[in-house]
Amino acid sequence: MRVTITEIKEMRQRKEKIPMLTAYDYVTAKIVDEAGVPLILVGDSLGMVMLGYESTIPVTMEEMMHHTKAVVRGAKKALIVGDMPFMTYHISVSDALYNASRFIQEGGAQAVKLEGGEVVAEKIRRLVDCGIPVVGHIGLTPQSVHQLGGFKVRGKAVDEAKKFLNDAVVLEEAGVFAIVLECTPAPLSRLITERLAIPTIGIGAGPDCDGQVQVISDILGLYTDFVPRHAKQYARLAEEIKNAVSSYISEVKSQSFPTATQSYSMDEDVIKQLQTEG
Ligand code: KIV
Repeated sequence: MRVTITEIKEMRQRKEKIPMLTAYDYVTAKIVDEAGVPLILVGDSLGMVMLGYESTIPVTMEEMMHHTKAVVRGAKKALIVGDMPFMTYHISVSDALYNASRFIQEGGAQAVKLEGGEVVAEKIRRLVDCGIPVVGHIGLTPQSVHQLGGFKVRGKAVDEAKKFLNDAVVLEEAGVFAIVLECTPAPLSRLITERLAIPTIGIGAGPDCDGQVQVISDILGLYTDFVPRHAKQYARLAEEIKNAVSSYISEVKSQSFPTATQSYSMDEDVIKQLQTEG
């Protein structure tokens, strides 16, 4: 049975921390799922770490559908959250409903995530009313990178911190089942977490959130263009892959690969016949 939003909320109630990771493809989703992660995010971060864009802004619904379907095929147990791309939920409620329903119906996800506070509350209310579970996302909201002037910590000053406290409460009232806090100072994340009855999932938001989310390519040391301060590398796969590929190159050149082990044999009479008959 797949993890449900009720189970995620119960984890908070019994003070069990919630690990969440991104995944973007079948193979990784399968591994992450088998390792026991209860929440998988098909993040629009895939634009940067999988597709090489400079930000998440160019990511399209079609790209998100493609990757969401692959993740759903790979992960049989985790609850899968599809990340709504830039401007697919701002223009109108009907746009938000249409695009969110694609994640659920066509992509096979069980929930969607969208960025923003009070400004998106009405859209969230409508999605939840229509039966679509929603995760909120406040603090550093990467889709607003041009407005924010970069990927920076948010909520250090009193006005912005107050805004995030209010946004979190408004999102909870609108019906989200969890809220991602990205790059908010640890004491503020703690205050927000204390004010809510639903789980907060932090990324660069300190240890007191109810859960943590990370970009899989960051914790595996795969994406090396930029390593955020909040990402701990549990492996250095980019180096491992480079070493493996270098070994392959040198073995092909030195003819030590392939050997008989990686080759297929055939009946000697057949080959003799081919040789004599031309
Ligand atoms: O797109 C993403 O991976 C995200 C996480 C950073 C929370 O939104």
